[in-house]
Amino acid sequence: MNAIEIRNLTKNFGQKQALQGLNMTVPQGAIYGFIGENGSGKSTTEKIICGLILPSGGSVKLFDRDYKDADVRAKVGVLIEQPGCFPNYSVWNNMMLQAANLGIKNAEEEVRKVLRIVHMEGSASNKYKNCSLGMKQRIGIAFALLGNPTLLILDEPINGLDADGMRIMREVLTDVTKNGCTVVISSHILGELEKIATHYGIVRGGKMIAEMTAEELNANCRTYVALKAKDMEEAKVILERKYVRVEKDEEGYIRIYDAVKAEEVVDYLFNELHIAVTEIKTSKIGLEEYYIDLMKEGR
Ligand SMILES: Nc1ncnc2c1ncn2[C@@H]1O[C@H](COP(=O)(O)OP(=O)(O)OP(=O)(O)O)[C@@H](O)[C@H]1O
Ligand SMILES: [Mg+2]
Repeated sequence: MNAIEIRNLTKNFGQKQALQGLNMTVPQGAIYGFIGENGSGKSTTEKIICGLILPSGGSVKLFDRDYKDADVRAKVGVLIEQPGCFPNYSVWNNMMLQAANLGIKNAEEEVRKVLRIVHMEGSASNKYKNCSLGMKQRIGIAFALLGNPTLLILDEPINGLDADGMRIMREVLTDVTKNGCTVVISSHILGELEKIATHYGIVRGGKMIAEMTAEELNANCRTYVALKAKDMEEAKVILERKYVRVEKDEEGYIRIYDAVKAEEVVDYLFNELHIAVTEIKTSKIGLEEYYIDLMKEGR
């Protein structure tokens, strides 16, 4: 069963067509990385899924049921922008209020549990307004986790987190999916997303332009040989004579994308032309470069 199935979703804000027939399929148990440029429609899609705004057209199903179904709605945890907290109240009191809003029965126990999950149990008495950005992000996740959701919608939850915060977030998200929860997470921090996502959806101009599993992404990502040589300019000219796709990268390496072994390249440069290779490695393009390439293709 899919946790989310969206077909032909449209949303107009006046003249602005924010969503233009968007399709989206999120399998149950996935950590779905939702990617796209600023203004491409990620937050709008997420707000519709959560019932915060109404679509102009199309269908949204959650766990094979209509997304407006109250039983299904109760199982969706949300973090879109900042949680609605009272600045002068403590973290604890804010959490307790939210638990009351959601009608959670064993509120104290539940609040303690979610604060522990995000490693905030030691800061429960802090006033919300005195919490750092990273702490507020964690409180946001704790809010979303209240009520044991089976679907978590997180809009840019890792902005502003330090390395430790990122690690905690990775642990939290992989833990909740182990317990059967499905997570949709939008982020521009692709390097981090790549460490946890099992699926990806890439939007552009209000449409889904690609959906794939992490394995498919991995298979789509080309391998390359990268090298540095004594005379880089000469090496590049000579490599271009033999190989089809030779490019210089941002770190100053020459990359050869043809299916070729590193030893062959060294042999070619040194044995035939006496150009000494000073450094060589075989690598694979990551999510970030794949995404940038995909965006370039459509221009
Ligand atoms: N309430 C609104 N009124 C008018 N236009 C809106 C409204 N909300 C969103 N839009 C427009 O809809 C488009 C999609 O916005 P959305 O917030 O979904 O993008 P996004 O993919 O989340 O971008 P970002 O990466 O910057 O968060 C944008 O052009 C935006 O200006
Ligand atoms: Mg957004």
